[in-house]
Amino acid sequence: MNMFDVYQKTGIRPVRARGCWLWDDKGKQYLDLYGGHAVISVGHSHPHYLWRLQTQMQEIGFYSNAVHIPLQEKLAKLLGQVSGYDDYALFLCNSGAEANENALKLASFHTGRQKVISFHKAFHGRTSGALAVTDNPEISAPINKNDSVIFLPLNDSEVLEKAFTDEIAAVIIEGVQGVGGIHLPTTEFMQTIRELCDRHSALFICDEIQSGYGRTGNFFAHQHFGVKPDLITMAKGMGNGFPVAGLLIHPKIKSRYGLLGSTFGGNHLACAASVAVLEIIQSENLIARAATMGDYLKSKLANVSQIIEIRGMGLMIGLSFDFSTADIREKLLYQYRIFTGSASDKHLIRLLPPLTVSTDELDLFVSALHKLLP
Ligand SMILES: Cc1ncc(COP(=O)(O)O)c(C=O)c1O
Repeated sequence: MNMFDVYQKTGIRPVRARGCWLWDDKGKQYLDLYGGHAVISVGHSHPHYLWRLQTQMQEIGFYSNAVHIPLQEKLAKLLGQVSGYDDYALFLCNSGAEANENALKLASFHTGRQKVISFHKAFHGRTSGALAVTDNPEISAPINKNDSVIFLPLNDSEVLEKAFTDEIAAVIIEGVQGVGGIHLPTTEFMQTIRELCDRHSALFICDEIQSGYGRTGNFFAHQHFGVKPDLITMAKGMGNGFPVAGLLIHPKIKSRYGLLGSTFGGNHLACAASVAVLEIIQSENLIARAATMGDYLKSKLANVSQIIEIRGMGLMIGLSFDFSTADIREKLLYQYRIFTGSASDKHLIRLLPPLTVSTDELDLFVSALHKLLP
């Protein structure tokens, strides 16, 4: 049987990984400045992460939510402390799209409304609700067409205010737009969303699936903008590669049995992975480190000719050029053995390294870029 061929792949086959490094089947070593789409938060195969998963696996790997799983409470307590949202409730699922799907559904249940506001270039996932609020018609099938969603320009408060009515169930926005090309919301815009959601009794959903978990130098990117959303979705960095996702839910949103559900969500191994990630984030001070390393990298890149703009915060960085970056990215990968990312904006290099990345490792990238762009 063949795989259903939907991914454009590099020719590289990683077989081992440690920290910010990957080794392929021929023993070649690569620097990972992309973390498999921002997933590797605490570094590949971190010893504490391995220890938690291995010990958990010896005890019990999985049972469904039909039983009590104390590890879920341990995770919720720790997440509340580290994120600053200890009064919110946690629902656990398995992927970013599923987290957004559940957030949209909860907003609709809570308000009894159907319409949602999303923004140009947004990416929220590929399941039906998440796709409906994603601004990319190319990945939308006829069954996904939906007239419940209004797409508006990012950071235009006037247009947002005009479009807002009492029919709106929710506004969904990324903490920092990732796939769309590292676009930041302004503080003023985020605060306008909060204010309009309150005025019209709608819910504010912040998608922190890529921008959360310390990546931008705060636990969540929206914490840079002085707002508190009603629903916050998380995934990628949460399990450092173990498939786990979740949403934080404001206390005004009430639960009832059967309202949401998931067979795999919150299983023992997923919780062990998530607890390990938070423990490492705390013990290695990775949130502050992301801010420092991001500033370091930006300062080093400031004199690389041909970069038009450096966008982003912490270790969520976009380098913008006035030409397609496909060729440089390929050279970075095959000549300098450095993984970087692209975005829907083909003029961008997107950097999402593990939060443990060092100045020496970042210097390798800067030096390669200098050589490629003299
Ligand atoms: C901001 C954002 N939301 C949602 C998703 C979807 O996550 P997943 O692929 O885990 O479903 C992604 C994935 O890239 C994302 O970047």
